[in-house]
Amino acid sequence: GFSWKLADHPKLPKGKLLAMIVLDGWGEASPDKFNCIHVAETPTMDSLKNGAPDKWRLVRAHGTAVGLPTEDDMGNSEVGHNALGAGRIFAQGAKLVDLALASGKIYDDEGFNYIKESFATNTLHLIGLMSDGGVHSRLDQLQLLLRGASQHGAKRIRVHVLTDGRDVLDGSSVGFAETLEAELSDLRSKGIDAQVASGGGRMYVTMDRYENDWEVVKRGWDAQVLGEAPHKFKNVVEAIKTLREAPGANDQYLPPFVIVDDSEKAVGPVVDGDAVVTFNFRADRMTMLAQALEYEKFDKFDRVRFPKIRYAGMLQYDGELKLPNHYLVSPPLIERTSGEYLVKNGVRTFACSETVKFGHVTFFWNGNRSGYFNSELEEYVEIPSDSGITFNVQPKMKALEIGEKARDAILSGKFDQVRVNIPNGDMVGHTGDVEATVVACKAADEAVKMILDAVEQVGGIYVVTADHGNAEDMVKRNKKGEPLLKDGEVQILTSHTLQPVPIAIGGPGLAAGVKFRKDVPSGGLANVAATVMNLHGFVAPDDYETTLIEVVD
Ligand code: 3PG
Ligand code: CO
Repeated sequence: GFSWKLADHPKLPKGKLLAMIVLDGWGEASPDKFNCIHVAETPTMDSLKNGAPDKWRLVRAHGTAVGLPTEDDMGNSEVGHNALGAGRIFAQGAKLVDLALASGKIYDDEGFNYIKESFATNTLHLIGLMSDGGVHSRLDQLQLLLRGASQHGAKRIRVHVLTDGRDVLDGSSVGFAETLEAELSDLRSKGIDAQVASGGGRMYVTMDRYENDWEVVKRGWDAQVLGEAPHKFKNVVEAIKTLREAPGANDQYLPPFVIVDDSEKAVGPVVDGDAVVTFNFRADRMTMLAQALEYEKFDKFDRVRFPKIRYAGMLQYDGELKLPNHYLVSPPLIERTSGEYLVKNGVRTFACSETVKFGHVTFFWNGNRSGYFNSELEEYVEIPSDSGITFNVQPKMKALEIGEKARDAILSGKFDQVRVNIPNGDMVGHTGDVEATVVACKAADEAVKMILDAVEQVGGIYVVTADHGNAEDMVKRNKKGEPLLKDGEVQILTSHTLQPVPIAIGGPGLAAGVKFRKDVPSGGLANVAATVMNLHGFVAPDDYETTLIEVVD
């Protein structure tokens, strides 16, 4: 039968402290001036790269290597940390939704049948990120869902959009809104009362994460549910174009707006009896809204009205909390993660990041699961992030504080694994501010140094890697790799990339003879878990992706 017990590694000892460092948004790319990692002073990461050639390599962090639909899908933190922690490749939300829509199964399942009860008398609301980034949602999936829902009885549909500019180019929201409008107008020609009802920029409206700033969710609630916002427009394309004209405005931070009719009345507040679907498949930035929509008892902000609705998520966002209770597509079942195995084999684990990435190194790492496996053996520490700012004004973020916490945990002797996420390259990279991203990369490198020094002191082992690329390429490029110009200027890339990421191993505790194998050339993030289990002295389970290391005598 099944057992949690891991076999002893034939050659590697147990009991060595292991520091697992995940640099967020830190890929490998050719050196040029838009490669902020190259431009920044990063002596520690450089020394790993230029050190022993069999202890540094690249791994794949995008596309099918992390369970995404195609090789054109850039990596992201959810799928990256899932792969790192789970040691296997699971078909991810994006893919599962594609399959459910293509087969039509989505319309047969519990979630859709639940919301469908509202269609005869009430409105169907769809709330989510209007983007083709494929990180949180996809516009083509929204289009299919609109068509499918109307074919299955929805007569009145309201779409509440969040503009992106973070996983896609800034300004692309206008084109997405036009595409969506065309789709809705097609539905209207078929007799469906379908329109956009509200909107706002994802970073300012609705899509906060890990409870960093509930005001963000409240702004969305007011527009989407109450039909109240500081800006009123007759249609979404006009709304976005106008709001983008304000100085410094961008898609990520557009203020909330509602669409009003000729008598200035909001066209789509949510009322008793309505159905609501949040159409993002990714969890982290939807769970706060999901709580507000679902929980009778709720004290994070004043909802003013709490309509009795039928609510379903595109996916269930948190399996442990069963949030939301109803969902259209079942999430990937990521069980038997390396974190759970290691804890069940006595590995005392410490994990830390600042708020904006805290869930990455805990919830995503553990297969989208909240909480501890065993609170006796684990400690997760969250350092509060600054809220209400864009991180280019504070590019060092809490890197050094994370480094200090990790150092203290290492020196305490209380843990076998000390795991951190260092957010700077990603969070500052997403702002598109090249200079600030250079500062961010330097700060991340300093945090790595602090942790490696502590590893040195206790005779431990380190594994340094990243979840996906971002800071190593800040410009949109043509097929030849040259920066793409628009109106004579380069187009800044705020998104992640398709680049591979580095992984380095070392430290005084690393047994002699351990090195990267040469026979896993296409290794990806999912190969890291077995590697880490080996370094803790265990053999990984059979169905895990193979280890990246070998031990030569
Ligand atoms: C975000 O949510 O900030 C971006 O869409 C993706 O970034 P992450 O995958 O690094 O969190
Ligand atoms: Co990111």
